[in-house]
Amino acid sequence: MKQEMMTIVRQQELAPRIYELVLAGELVQQMKMPGQFLHIRVPRNDLLLRRPISINQYDQDAGTCTIIYRVEGDGTKFFAELSAGDQLDVMGPLGHGFEIDQLNAGDTAFIVGGGIGVPPLYQLSKELNEKGIKVIHFLGFGTQEVVYYADEFQALGETRFSTDDGTFGLQGNVGNLLLAESIQPDAVFACGNNGLLKTVEQLYNQVENVQLSLESRMACGMGACYACVCHVPEDENKSVKVCEDGPVFQAGEVIF
Ligand code: FAD
Ligand code: FES
Repeated sequence: MKQEMMTIVRQQELAPRIYELVLAGELVQQMKMPGQFLHIRVPRNDLLLRRPISINQYDQDAGTCTIIYRVEGDGTKFFAELSAGDQLDVMGPLGHGFEIDQLNAGDTAFIVGGGIGVPPLYQLSKELNEKGIKVIHFLGFGTQEVVYYADEFQALGETRFSTDDGTFGLQGNVGNLLLAESIQPDAVFACGNNGLLKTVEQLYNQVENVQLSLESRMACGMGACYACVCHVPEDENKSVKVCEDGPVFQAGEVIF
């Protein structure tokens, strides 16, 4: 983990309230695992807590990484006003991401994402592709207007979409997409809201390798403050920290 003033290379709005931000800095050389996140200081003195945002992709040769975020409150609103040449105080890469070592060429992996849980799945899919693993993406959004990275994911493998209102892909949620699928995967990777993660956990309880990326409110982002604890099944005295032990956990490992 490193802390650095990273420089914004470019920023663009991909869809209403959804921004893609490319950052350059030394810290990129430490990014080795898809699913980790950056903890970013909002350059405003009254906003003390850093904002956790997943790493969407990294390119060590270019020395750049990308994040994709949705404007929610004051912090992300401030990020959206920044442009090329501005700097951000960034800590990272943080947390434990997706493990892909157990998979072999020829295996099939399902990649399941919803809304603003989709960004970290892109680097994951790229790395699975590089290992010769067949990926099938199942991506859910609210409506067509807020769909992003459709072409990028389609370039990496079969991609099925759902929208709540049916304006793009199947009408419904990602669970409906998964129910329509007959193939049994060797592994499932998911990131999204708790409803999506619970659906994945239930549908694939026969699959040994199911990895879920959890979201939780964070303060320090590095294991020191206990703001992000989750309990583990069958031992109410034991807990894990989403920022340090996760955000990615094996299905069944934590209660959420
Ligand atoms: P406010 O609501 O004003 O934030 C107030 C406080 O609440 C801040 O401390 C903020 O960090 C915290 N907070 C608010 N919403 C969340 C949330 N959903 N999760 C955690 N903390 C929250 N969002 C994206 O758009 N793209 C991503 O790739 C992404 N990756 C994430 C990865 C992790 C590991 C976590 C924990 C969260 C991620 N989020 C992501 C959610 C993102 O952190 C919040 O949307 C963001 O912090 C909101 O800040 P704000 O100041 O705009 O909103
Ligand atoms: Fe402080 Fe996780 S955010 S321990």
